[in-house]
Amino acid sequence: MLILGIETSCDETGVALYDSGRGLLAHALYSQVKLHAEYGGVVPELASRDHVRKTLPLLQDIFQQAGVEPRQVQGVAYTRGPGLIGALLVGAAIGRSLAFAWNTPALGVHHMEGHLLAPMLEADPPEFPFVALLVSGGHSLLVRVDGIGRYQILGESIDDAAGEAFDKTAKLLGLPYPGGPALAKLAEQGTPGRFRFPRPMTDRPGCDFSFSGLKTAAINTWRKLAPTPENRADVAYAFEEAVVDTLAIKCQRALQETGLQRLVVAGGVGANQRLRARLRELAAERGGRVYYPRLEFCTDNGAMIAYAGWRRLAAGQVEDMAIEVLPRWPLDRLPAV
Ligand code: KG4
Ligand code: ZN
Repeated sequence: MLILGIETSCDETGVALYDSGRGLLAHALYSQVKLHAEYGGVVPELASRDHVRKTLPLLQDIFQQAGVEPRQVQGVAYTRGPGLIGALLVGAAIGRSLAFAWNTPALGVHHMEGHLLAPMLEADPPEFPFVALLVSGGHSLLVRVDGIGRYQILGESIDDAAGEAFDKTAKLLGLPYPGGPALAKLAEQGTPGRFRFPRPMTDRPGCDFSFSGLKTAAINTWRKLAPTPENRADVAYAFEEAVVDTLAIKCQRALQETGLQRLVVAGGVGANQRLRARLRELAAERGGRVYYPRLEFCTDNGAMIAYAGWRRLAAGQVEDMAIEVLPRWPLDRLPAV
C-alpha cells in the first residue's frame, strides 16, 4: 500500500511516500527556521503562507525521487492536529483535495502519534507494549503504548513542554531561534558541577513534569553573572543536565510502574545527545532497551505521518470528505485499531 504523508502542523513542511512493502521511498523537508528567526519564534500567519508555497513543489520532488506516479498512491495521510490552526489547514486542504482528485482515501493523523510511531520506520522497530517519552516543542508526555491508539497517559507537563523550556531559556541567554539545538551545542563547552538547578517534581510521586521553575532558576543565575561566553555555557550545561536528569528519573518511574522494558523516545528533544546517552544507560541498567527514530525523524517530518496514516488506513479506518483540523487534540482520545 503506497501512502503519501503531509506534515504542516508548525514551522516545517514535511512530505513522504511510504510503501508498506518496500518501506520509505522518499521524503523531503523544508524548514521555516530562517523565516521566523528574526521574530525569535514562530509567526503563525507566516508559517501558513510558507506551507502554501512549499507543499506542492516538495510533493513534486518526492514523486520524482521515488519514481512513482501520483495515481499509484493508495492513501493520503495529513496532520490533523495538534498544532497551529492555519498551518494545519494548509496540509489538510492539500491532502484532502489530492485524495479526492486521485479517488483514494485520506486520513487526518495525530501529530504526536506520528512522533510516537517514528521509531517503527527503523530497521529494528520496537514491539508493543512499550513506554514512550514524547518530548517536543509543544508536549512532554510519558505514555504507556499497548498498540495503535491504545495509549494511557502516565504523566505530562503541567506547564512548559521540555522543548519549550529549552527554547525559552535559550532566548533569555541570548541564543538564536530555535533555541533547543543552540543551547545543547553551547552546553558542550560548559563546566560540569559549577551550577546545580532543581529537578522539578522528582520528590513527588507520579510521572508529571514541570519545567517553568527550572527555566526561572537558570535565568536568575545567569542574570547575576557577567555575560561572558564561559558563564553562558556553564548555565546552559546545568540547565540541560537538570532537564535530562528530570526526564530520566520520570522514565525510570514509568518503566517501574508499568513493569515494561522497552522505552521509545521521540519528538524534537529526543534529538538531544545527552538525553539519548542517559536513557540508553538507564534502559541497559534495567536489562531493557531504548528505541529512537533516526535523528532527522526526531523533529517534525512527513515520514512519521505517512507511517501512522498507513497503520490506520490499512486497519480500515475511514473518514468523510470534511476538512476539519484539531489544534488541540488529546492523544488518549484516539480510537484503537
Ligand atoms: O517535535 P518538534 O520538531 O516540533 C514540535 O512538534 O514541537 O520539536 C521541536 C522542539 C523545539 O523546542 C526544539 O528546540 C527542540 O525540539 N529540540 C531540541 C534539540 N533539537 C530540537 N532540544 C534540545 N536539544 C536538541 N538537540
Ligand atoms: Zn512535533
